Amino acid sequence: MSLSNALSPFLAFVNPETLQIQPNTGGYKKYFRELNGIYADQAEFDHLAATFGNSVAYRVDEARFSDNGSDLITGISVLEPGKVGQEFFMTRGHLHQRADRPETYYGLAGHGILLLESLAGEVKAMEMRPGSLVYVPPFWVHRSVNVGETVFATLFSYPADAGQDFETVRQARGFRQLVVAATNGDWKLAPNPDYRPRTAEEIQAYVARTRN
Ligand SMILES: [Fe+2]
Repeated sequence: MSLSNALSPFLAFVNPETLQIQPNTGGYKKYFRELNGIYADQAEFDHLAATFGNSVAYRVDEARFSDNGSDLITGISVLEPGKVGQEFFMTRGHLHQRADRPETYYGLAGHGILLLESLAGEVKAMEMRPGSLVYVPPFWVHRSVNVGETVFATLFSYPADAGQDFETVRQARGFRQLVVAATNGDWKLAPNPDYRPRTAEEIQAYVARTRN
């Protein structure tokens, strides 16, 4: 192992007002229309998309320096508030392409859920507010859900070779549980009637994928 590489130390500022990392190395915006298919109420999604399709649903900016497993990517995710039918706004959700890679999330603003699901279908809803710290273990699928009335912002960090696999969520037709509005104005979990559990063979394939 070399004691030096081509990477330089980097100093940035997490702006609490704009919820951006300044400076950053890049990022992306996800528009509402791009989330077609992730919500249980497709008719309501289509109805909202006709008006709000070109609105930003969430954005990410990040400090990314390489795709080496010995490196880290750190970024901010900012998710807008709202509901599609009874279901709160959320990110697509993913398993890491290198599924044995973990992640941490730190709450910066708002009120949200980091919804975690093991490959076997165990669900953990981690309720986050500013200051909350969540550890996502290797092999857990994860998504952010905004259950508040303002933006839900988190700072995340994960190994730079992790990658993101969205197919895992699509094939399962979402997560086992939906995060929906409760009658008292709070949130609750509700079973996803479309959920398709992963077979033992599929789970083994995810584990095998980490051994290359
Ligand atoms: Fe992740």
